[in-house]
Amino acid sequence: MNFGCTLIDWYKLNKRDLPWRNTRDPYLIWLSEIILQQTRVAQGVPYYFKFVNAFTNITSFANATEDEVLKLWQGLGYYSRARNMLKTAKVIKNNCGGIFPTAYDDLIKLKGIGPYTASAISSFSVDEKRAVVDGNVYRVIARYMGIDNPTNSNSGIKVFQILANSMMESHVPSLYNQAIMEFGALVCTPKKPKCSHCMLRPNCWALANNKVELLPVKLKKTASKKRFMYFFVVRNGNKLIIKRRKNDDIWAGLYDFPSIESKGLLAIEAIVAHHDFKLWFGNNAIVNKIHKPIKHLLTHQTIYAQFIEVCGAICLNKQPPEWLHVSVNELENYAQPKLIFAFLKKYLT
Ligand code: ADE
Ligand code: SF4
Repeated sequence: MNFGCTLIDWYKLNKRDLPWRNTRDPYLIWLSEIILQQTRVAQGVPYYFKFVNAFTNITSFANATEDEVLKLWQGLGYYSRARNMLKTAKVIKNNCGGIFPTAYDDLIKLKGIGPYTASAISSFSVDEKRAVVDGNVYRVIARYMGIDNPTNSNSGIKVFQILANSMMESHVPSLYNQAIMEFGALVCTPKKPKCSHCMLRPNCWALANNKVELLPVKLKKTASKKRFMYFFVVRNGNKLIIKRRKNDDIWAGLYDFPSIESKGLLAIEAIVAHHDFKLWFGNNAIVNKIHKPIKHLLTHQTIYAQFIEVCGAICLNKQPPEWLHVSVNELENYAQPKLIFAFLKKYLT
């Protein structure tokens, strides 16, 4: 039996019952695929339901504010996904009459939709013949065929797409695509793949050549940038000072505390002597508590964060006008980065 038939037979018997698998609605498929881009299925499912319940179709999504979307997205990370979704929803509402496109060539023009997502939506909704290539597909093909081109090199991306297209053959695209991804997620897994139960084992190159753990090959990324952030937690009665983050940096549009940043570790003496600290809080501010440093990993950056509680005779006149004084029970209306959200949860209990 050939590769695709084996996969599809396995899939029909072993697939997980996931909510987006029972629909052909391109809007619902889009929601699920964007959520799942950098997120595990178990974590993504509740968010999928949150979004489906909040916005039943693309037009209601398009009518949302960015704050509403970010708030629903809170905790998932990679917030550009949420902002791009809103932009795309507005384009579809305004330029496509609110009809979600299903053709690959239309989908690929939309913000936040790359070759993988365009292939997924077009194949799952209308069975357009487009092979998906995600991390699962790279792994299955690299091992089964013995391909060692790096999956994050330009040449590797091309080679894997060509192979993926040809291995789809004449199978039903929606079924075949789901099957190969599910197989990679459940059997041909990154660590400890279940080769002993695998139906592809008679023809698997990596198994025959003892290279399963060595494939796929990925080029090492450059070291991630270190940033040291010091957040000031300023409580004024029942209110805390928060501010919206600017658009040119991580966590754009989310809310955090007034902060200073440096390329290296700062001692508390250097922090209170910092020009911004003096400007914002004056000379009579008192550092009440210094929380333990937290290391927070993002894709290309490592954040070393420290929360510092400031009180005393704080002069408020030099503080930037965009700072908000928000009462504790209204904080939940402001979407925050995970780091801030986690801190507040502990701080307020
Ligand atoms: N990961 C990305 N897309 C998926 C899908 N449609 N089903 C399961 N896992 C996925
Ligand atoms: Fe993947 Fe192992 Fe199956 Fe080969 S035998 S396809 S490496 S699970």
